[in-house]
Amino acid sequence: MSIIFQEEKGLLTLHTKHSTYQMAVDRFGVLRHLYYGRRADGTEFYYPYTEYDISFSAVPPRTETEGFFSFDTCPQEYTTCGVGDYRPASIGVVNPDGSFCADFRYVSHRVLPGKYAIPGMPASHAAEGEAETLEIVLRDEVTDLSVVLRYGVFFENDVIARSAEIVNGSKGKTVLTRAFSMCLDFPYGKWDLLHFHGRHCLERQAERMPLGYTKQVLSSGRGHTSHHENNFCILCDENASEDHGECYGFMLVYSGNFKTEIERTQLNAVRIVSGINDDNFRWTLESGESFHTPEVLLSFSGGGLTALSHQYHEMIRSHICRGKFAKARRPVLINNWEATMFDFTTDKVIEIARQGAELGCELFVLDDGWFGARDSDHAGLGDWFVNERKMPGGLMPLIEAVQSFGMKFGIWIEPEMINEDSDLFRKHPDWALAVPGREPVRGRHQLVLDMTRKDVRDYLFDCFSALIANHPISYIKWDMNRCIAEVFSAELPPERQGEVFHRFTLGFYDLIGRLTESFPDVLFEGCSGGGGRYDAGAMYYTPQIWLSDDTDAIERVKIQYGSSFGYPVSTMGAHVSVAPNQQTGKNTPLHTRGIVAMSGTFGYEMDLNLLSEEEKEEVRQQIRTFKEHYWLIQDGLYYRLTDVVHNTAYAAWMFAAKDGSEALVNLVVTHVRPNYVPMHVRLKGLIPEAKYREEVEGTEGRVYTGAALMYGGYTFPALWADYPSCQVHFTRID
Ligand code: DGJ
Repeated sequence: MSIIFQEEKGLLTLHTKHSTYQMAVDRFGVLRHLYYGRRADGTEFYYPYTEYDISFSAVPPRTETEGFFSFDTCPQEYTTCGVGDYRPASIGVVNPDGSFCADFRYVSHRVLPGKYAIPGMPASHAAEGEAETLEIVLRDEVTDLSVVLRYGVFFENDVIARSAEIVNGSKGKTVLTRAFSMCLDFPYGKWDLLHFHGRHCLERQAERMPLGYTKQVLSSGRGHTSHHENNFCILCDENASEDHGECYGFMLVYSGNFKTEIERTQLNAVRIVSGINDDNFRWTLESGESFHTPEVLLSFSGGGLTALSHQYHEMIRSHICRGKFAKARRPVLINNWEATMFDFTTDKVIEIARQGAELGCELFVLDDGWFGARDSDHAGLGDWFVNERKMPGGLMPLIEAVQSFGMKFGIWIEPEMINEDSDLFRKHPDWALAVPGREPVRGRHQLVLDMTRKDVRDYLFDCFSALIANHPISYIKWDMNRCIAEVFSAELPPERQGEVFHRFTLGFYDLIGRLTESFPDVLFEGCSGGGGRYDAGAMYYTPQIWLSDDTDAIERVKIQYGSSFGYPVSTMGAHVSVAPNQQTGKNTPLHTRGIVAMSGTFGYEMDLNLLSEEEKEEVRQQIRTFKEHYWLIQDGLYYRLTDVVHNTAYAAWMFAAKDGSEALVNLVVTHVRPNYVPMHVRLKGLIPEAKYREEVEGTEGRVYTGAALMYGGYTFPALWADYPSCQVHFTRID
């Protein structure tokens, strides 16, 4: 039993393999948070929260006579609002009478087998016996507004999945001005915040900083998760490292606007709340209606950041990604985008595919530019029929050629967007989000379709299901290339315009959900100008996502490093592209580009015909190496061996088989300097007493014990010139 209720004490305790989460219904009916941290059986955590009077705290009625009580100092599972808690709130309301108050008290709870689902939204899932659900109902007795808190307990994964449903039990209209997914209060304030910020082509840069007495806000208001901040963050002990210390992860399973607020309070405690961004958010609940928040995945590690990452990697692979591709062997692909951009013909891309197949690629992906009048990014989005001028006879001549090379065929789409220069816009100008009377703001010369509308989604569903049904398509790359502005739907009344952002995300989920369910044999890869929608919500539909539009291997090392804290390599779309690199102009050896892209779903994005014979042979070898180590890379345990933020000289990371039978260690020199200083790292995940044979780039080397490699470490050979790299494979031999 992972959920325990002790009725006489009002205690509710959740256990995972290594963590315990505890809450209690107190004497006032308030659902208090008591503890989240290391596994502690048979323990009650009432004591950390001393109740004492603190000036300028509001005291609710009927509590004065029973010791000090204030919401402002009470740790809560889901906060009240407007009744004297001045810390970040989980909820904001406008009641039918115009007041802003909600004071939630415990009504009931129940324990259910399995994992709850959320209507219309992605959520973690579990097979029978893998998870249990705790459901707690809280209610404001004056307004009859209720909150149903749900906790999905994944015992083996050390994850607790939280979400809330807000139910308007009143006779009138209630407006939600904030509807977050969770609140978590810590009695202790000395935490570091680790978050993942960036920009286009530079996503998920890790930044770690101490929490001061100021509110930290991580957010996106751009309509997608964004390149600028990821919706995963970590709070860790100030002394925590990869292998030691307490760390807590917070990962939203959501792809739209989000906000996470973290405040170190006047009492030196820390509160974190997280959910849909409440900027430009207002949601009207008619009497009897309810609102579901997205889910947030909480995970605790008492053994450092690596263990926390492993928990999330396994959680995403087993309980977020779905369908036959979640854990399946994915194809090595060749994509034409960086090779041709919009300038291609069927014959040109056939040659790229032919060479890809000859070198070992398994899937050819036709990127942007195959439809409508799409000769540049000024036109065509919305017209999802083949551009016969570029591709006479449609897609079939290309597909047949690709198949004759023994490859599968994949194609790029950008469903949520529309160009004004398109037949679709000329026919349905009202299908784009726009504020009446304002000339629209454009991004990449395009407008955003009103995904809140069912007729728009039905049109798109029909287009893409016909495309897939009429062609042998094995893979779809689903792109989204601008942030949303002027969020206004012609279909909704003025008082509901604050719902458009979230309804847009629900519309995206509806469309992609219908398409992925209708075509379970098609592998969908997500993309939003690279990694602008790289989140657990999107991973529910697309088990791999193009990580970044920056294919520069040296920059990629940092992007992959930051992404690895929360997400497994099986979700990271990674390709080898040309040198000099198209985004940075940097010259990186093919060898290094290969090693870096191999730590993802792997593919090429270049015209391989332009390589020398020697380089082609190198590509052949890279693909052989990747295929040989495929399961070790995708299924093995991923270890960050260096901190790429502080060690700017070289980056190292490795994959270790879960049974300790082999390991693949990678090193990239990110800054070559004279007068060589040895590059020495301690390996991880091996069996100390086992013996391992080293193999460097196909040449067998020495035999080491696991202890030697983990405790003594491994010294890489001296490397020089531009951005060199080294890959070492260790096989257990005893
Ligand atoms: C942005 C993507 O990230 C690229 O890979 C490419 O598909 C372009 N869009 C095409 O417009």
